[in-house]
Amino acid sequence: QPDTDEIKALIAGVSDLEGPLLPILHALQDAYGVIPDIAQPLIAEALNISRAEVHGVVSFYHDFRTLPAGRHVVKICRAEACQAMGGAALGEHAQARLGVEWHGTTENGAVTLEPVYCLGLCACGPSAMVDGKLLGRVDAQKLDRIIGEIEA
Ligand code: FES
Repeated sequence: QPDTDEIKALIAGVSDLEGPLLPILHALQDAYGVIPDIAQPLIAEALNISRAEVHGVVSFYHDFRTLPAGRHVVKICRAEACQAMGGAALGEHAQARLGVEWHGTTENGAVTLEPVYCLGLCACGPSAMVDGKLLGRVDAQKLDRIIGEIEA
């Protein structure tokens, strides 16, 4: 866990911005990969808002994590063009294969599954991104192979 002074300094660095809550959360997540538990009350205090408000925003935006991501991140496109080409089924398959829901991380911490809304590969859907690498025409078989590789 990062320490309180460090987090306070980080909050102070961006709290002059208009509507500082989101920039603060982004800055924390960039720095730590998660919104540290101890940060939420510090943010509430700095901005003079309730802890519940901070918590509400953190949980509303799925981009913010309160738990660290897995060692690998699999993103499946859930935007329209890919959905029309089997993306919905692929998303279901991914959840079943990994035993997690969207935004979830497998128990061994190996893989986090995230939805994404268009990767710009619409012509080759369904699309996915694995550890930052774009993949087109991903079917269940291909996905299983990839997951097998990264889990190993
Ligand atoms: Fe999936 Fe564009 S809709 S890549």
